Amino acid sequence: MKGKKWYKNQEIAEKYEPKRFSGAGGTYINQTEKSCVKKTLGQIKNKKILEIATGTGRFSLMLAENGADVTACDISTPMLEIAQDKAERKGLTNKINFFKGDAEKLPFKDNTFDKVMAIRFMHLVDDPEKFLKEMARVTKDTVIFDTFNLQSFRILYNKILPMDSRLYSENEVKQLAKKTNLQITKKIDSFVIPFAVYRYTPDLLANTLKEIDYTMLNKQTGKKLSSVTYWKLKKKTKGGKNKSHKKSTDTNK
Ligand SMILES: C[S@@+](CC[C@H](N)C(=O)[O-])C[C@H]1O[C@@H](n2cnc3c(N)ncnc32)[C@H](O)[C@@H]1O
Repeated sequence: MKGKKWYKNQEIAEKYEPKRFSGAGGTYINQTEKSCVKKTLGQIKNKKILEIATGTGRFSLMLAENGADVTACDISTPMLEIAQDKAERKGLTNKINFFKGDAEKLPFKDNTFDKVMAIRFMHLVDDPEKFLKEMARVTKDTVIFDTFNLQSFRILYNKILPMDSRLYSENEVKQLAKKTNLQITKKIDSFVIPFAVYRYTPDLLANTLKEIDYTMLNKQTGKKLSSVTYWKLKKKTKGGKNKSHKKSTDTNK
């Protein structure tokens, strides 16, 4: 699996958040991602949620703060240590069960969790179908993930990223859902301007960039160029389609 080794390096782990989520652009990315994930997840209070590839725990902490009962796994010890340290400082250790584990071999029985999620992870996965099947196996109902999109400006720099990064088309996600017996019930398109641009934009210009992004996302052509999409999928009932799952499409605005 791509990135399995990359994030095990102590220095990479320590730089993970400062490099991506500091400054005005980075803060905007962090807040927007969290807002999209919250909207995608829906009700979380008292829900049993598994976060796969929690990294430094950005989302697990947010879930615990909002009343979820969280289990968080990652393969990297240094990333997990940062997450655990943050949870301790926020007094959330009794709400999050951190463990070191491999996303490909989840040590849980079928239907253990209400919701299972993985953010900023599908781009590292070698066999998305196998991984989705594993997510679907351990959840009672809901699977959440995001994809970095093929039809976006991310394609301009994706190839030069050191840990490699898989991009997805909407059609590919639909096919994956079909093969894994999941039904897409919600999608949120976000970030026409890709993450890297925010990271290298001076603080003074970040707001302008944000406004341009919002404007583009509110147009049909802009939405089609979103670099990140948040997906919510539900397990299909035995008879096939679950009629109670109403599909919704949204943007991060
Ligand atoms: C880009 S980071 C995302 C972290 C977090 N989800 C976030 O959005 O900030 C990817 C994470 O996946 C973890 N990872 C890579 N391969 C994994 C695997 N096979 N099983 C579990 N975690 C893995 C890495 O250690 C890293 O923490």
